[in-house]
Amino acid sequence: MESQLDQITKHCENLERAADELSSRVTALAEGQAAATDGISDAEYVTLLVHNKKLKYRAQILQKGIAEYSPPKSALSDLPNSVGSTSSSAAPAKSASRVPPLPEVPKDSMCAILQHLEAVFERAVRVAFPQHTAPVNTQIQLSKMADYQCNVAMALAKILRQNPRVVGQAVLDAAGTSPLIANMQLSGSGFINITLSTGFIREQVTRLVTHGVTPPPLNKRKVAVDFSSPNIAKEMHVGHLRSTIIGDSICRLLEFLGHDVLRINHLGDWGTQFGMLIAHLQDRFPNYLKTPPAISDLQGFYKESKKRFDEDEQFKVRAYKAVVQLQGHDPDHINGWTMICDISKREFNKVYERLDVKLSPYGESFYQSRMEAIVADLEQRGLLEQARIQEDETDRKDDRKFMYSNTVEEPQTVMPLIMVKSDGGFTYDTSDMACIRYRTQELDVDWLIYVTDAGQLQHFKSFRAAAARAGYFNSATTRMDHVMFGVVLGEDRKKFKTRSGDTVRLVELLEEGLVRAEAILKEKGRDEALSQQEFDHVKEAVAYGCIKYADLCHDRTRDYVFSFDRMLDFKGNTAAYLLYALTRICSIARTAGVSSGSLLTEARKEPMQLEHEKEWKLARTLLKLPDVILKLTEDLYLHPLCEFLYEVSTVFSEFYDNCYCVEKDKDGNITKIHTSRLLLCEATATVFKQCLAILGIKTVERM
Ligand code: ARG
Repeated sequence: MESQLDQITKHCENLERAADELSSRVTALAEGQAAATDGISDAEYVTLLVHNKKLKYRAQILQKGIAEYSPPKSALSDLPNSVGSTSSSAAPAKSASRVPPLPEVPKDSMCAILQHLEAVFERAVRVAFPQHTAPVNTQIQLSKMADYQCNVAMALAKILRQNPRVVGQAVLDAAGTSPLIANMQLSGSGFINITLSTGFIREQVTRLVTHGVTPPPLNKRKVAVDFSSPNIAKEMHVGHLRSTIIGDSICRLLEFLGHDVLRINHLGDWGTQFGMLIAHLQDRFPNYLKTPPAISDLQGFYKESKKRFDEDEQFKVRAYKAVVQLQGHDPDHINGWTMICDISKREFNKVYERLDVKLSPYGESFYQSRMEAIVADLEQRGLLEQARIQEDETDRKDDRKFMYSNTVEEPQTVMPLIMVKSDGGFTYDTSDMACIRYRTQELDVDWLIYVTDAGQLQHFKSFRAAAARAGYFNSATTRMDHVMFGVVLGEDRKKFKTRSGDTVRLVELLEEGLVRAEAILKEKGRDEALSQQEFDHVKEAVAYGCIKYADLCHDRTRDYVFSFDRMLDFKGNTAAYLLYALTRICSIARTAGVSSGSLLTEARKEPMQLEHEKEWKLARTLLKLPDVILKLTEDLYLHPLCEFLYEVSTVFSEFYDNCYCVEKDKDGNITKIHTSRLLLCEATATVFKQCLAILGIKTVERM
């Protein structure tokens, strides 16, 4: 009977453990935590859920069985090697196997303090309440009473039906020690106040000066960031500007974290419009093969050819023929196409150069042979269908080939993709399907990011579902984010256009930024204080920095109003203000005659002093950076980084107003230099520079 009971107990434990693992995964998924990192389809999620329920049910039955078979503990406890004593000694071992070890503090990088504290308290809950196996939300936040506060006891007490203070005490007792924490105290109805160790903070801030911002350790991935992606022969518009700015910043963030980043420009350089452009090129410049024409107004050229295409039947026929020849790689047609692409690319590059954005072009044309291959593949596997509604309103038969991929998740809303048009040509959908397969299977990418306007949400939903159905994308191994953004509005809150209603030319817009920045800087007499070269550098940093920052500091999914006046304001949360604040911070040590070199030597001697309340506050604020950065990678929203930077600038002002860095007598002679405070300035400048670098904003020494 004993060995039977042993077996049942073991089996029950195994089941429980499996159910626990599933249960934490399922809850994490439900809370949207795991999906971001693991990427899991809803179908898999539902299966897990069902499986989990079954396991829990079986475990319950077995446990009941054990309870029925087990003799009362008291009767067994005095028998040597009895079931009672084995199981009681086995219990801690069982919970120990589930309890994660105490988190370590990284040796070679900054510590993400919040993340660390969360791990400490999650573990504490596991130790204190091994029976509570669901995921724990430790609810740690900044505190007025101490540095941080952990509110886990309230929610947990409700679930466990216990007194929150008792729960809080148990968690506190189980928390163990951490080099970050100086003191923990239970307060009120179960809050745990956490005071950070002064030594740890001093060491971490000093590290900022000696090593710069060192990213917290994480798993490295190969990421394809698809951004900017304008269309050849058309004007690059403000939507593409947003994609360029946001995409570039995401790349900079991921590069900083050490991921392997591919910056991909998915140019719209293929499709029927090229037939029309080439036919028009042949007519307007019959000699184009010998003397390549210098078309300065490609958009005008596009409009002309479109007009002919719409009005002239014969021209239309020629345009269609030209597409077929182009796709058949006829050398003359390829030549004409290359000319048109080159003209466009030169225009695009002017924008990229000004904004200092690097991109590798992989246009839609790159996928021609791959589109042929995937269509054949899908066709052969029976995944392509003629329209489910065979007749359209004009009573013509619809010969297009679709790929349907309704999912459990959204049975109605996932639109089918058009994989082959009725003339046999391919579409935007086909190129994205070929492209995702190329990225996952040929480039071996395990993270896909697409930066486009929110208007393309449906397209991305559809093709994600279709790619999953076709097996070109597996959410269990590859993460995919559609980073979408809202519309750019003019100051009249209408769609951003020129007065005549045309698309605003980006190069002209950037040029206007420069002119405006120049005027403001001159108003402030900066042209007299700086050399011409310095002034030009400042002008560019301010103009382009402001345009970028105005975009990045808002929740990207919202529409945003493009206003030079607002973005170039030297007060408030703008790049102009932040760049200026940084120059002031950098100048403090300089005016005291202390070089960065000697500050570095000082920093290496011993961790800096932090005595004044404002010094302490500044230090703690600076050390939030790793947590802020980790959060950015979860949802790829960049505005929290801007908010953080602005917070740093405000906290710095408080520090500077309250703490002398350099003391002077009434004649202006320096009487005392507070080296430790200069070091704190240096650490602040380091954080500033790193954040601005991630945002793609160039900094200046003086302005
Ligand atoms: N060329 C498209 C446009 O201008 C954007 C392409 C985005 N990338 C993609 N893989 N679909 O809207």
